[in-house]
Amino acid sequence: MNIAIIGSGTMGSGIAQVAATAGCQVQLYDTKQEALDKAKQALEKILNRLIEKDRIDDAEKNRIQSNIAYEDDLKSLAKADFTIEAIVENLDIKQKVFKELETYQSKDAIIASNTSSLSIASIASALEHPERCIGVHFFNPAPLMPLVEIVPAVQTSQEVFDKVFSTIQDWKKVPVKAQDTPGFIVNRVARPFYGEALRIYEERFAGVPEGEAGFATIDWAMKEFGGFRMGPFQLMDFIGNDVNYTVTETVFKAFYYDPRYKPSFTQKRFEEAGYLGRKSGKGFYNYDGNAQKAAP
Ligand code: NAI
Repeated sequence: MNIAIIGSGTMGSGIAQVAATAGCQVQLYDTKQEALDKAKQALEKILNRLIEKDRIDDAEKNRIQSNIAYEDDLKSLAKADFTIEAIVENLDIKQKVFKELETYQSKDAIIASNTSSLSIASIASALEHPERCIGVHFFNPAPLMPLVEIVPAVQTSQEVFDKVFSTIQDWKKVPVKAQDTPGFIVNRVARPFYGEALRIYEERFAGVPEGEAGFATIDWAMKEFGGFRMGPFQLMDFIGNDVNYTVTETVFKAFYYDPRYKPSFTQKRFEEAGYLGRKSGKGFYNYDGNAQKAAP
């Protein structure tokens, strides 16, 4: 099966690795050459680490790498049977890319979005053949997280759903059918995890001594005693404060401004300042190559 991935950032590069490991020919496309270079270097590093841990050998590393071609021209994706888009979380931009892609590909080719919060129906509506469009929502980091939400829009054909569901199983992932409602399953349930943690942090001067409910304290409590693998602030830094903020904003609007989903000013300012988390080297924590350290 010929696979195309649009966007070689955090998610696109991980999804490309998953498909290439499963034996598919993958084209990884991005408009930015530096994003493609970064994805290539990151894969090299990940595969070397797997070799060190004795999980794969050199032959497997070469096989995975040779299954991925790095592309900077959308037209080159013309022959893909299954395209997964993982670009910026913006409906207009996604629709524009999908519309253009459709002009190059056969009408049976499947076009999927890895969107976290946009409605699949709205993305599909840009296409002349919307029945080929579906949500395929991986989790970060895609090579390690087993769950993938498969989200048919009201326009999606049963045939496309079945094909995608079984392909994701072939990729050794666990697909789950989700409704095309804001945040699908996991992001919907997780919204209060981030939102309430941010509110506690913002309320830290309300009667408690300064620093008592700082983000590192909240993370510590949730991680060490709440049974979570990461605290909410560690997780927001991991996801990216830009991506996480946008998802919250989209879900908030989609639920007709229900205050339960209200986005946070703190996170908005972090996004504006470029404090995106791990990917920018600074977020709620500093990432200087050593252990994460709470930012002042
Ligand atoms: P990212 O910011 O790491 O990567 C996005 C990439 O898309 C960048 O390399 C950028 O150059 C490229 N790009 C932007 N516009 C483009 C265009 N018109 N054509 C081709 N490439 C373009 O973003 P990330 O985190 O990988 O997120 C991508 C999508 O996946 C978003 O829809 C997001 O909501 C979703 N998602 C993100 C998760 C996360 O934890 N970061 C988890 C699951 C889904």
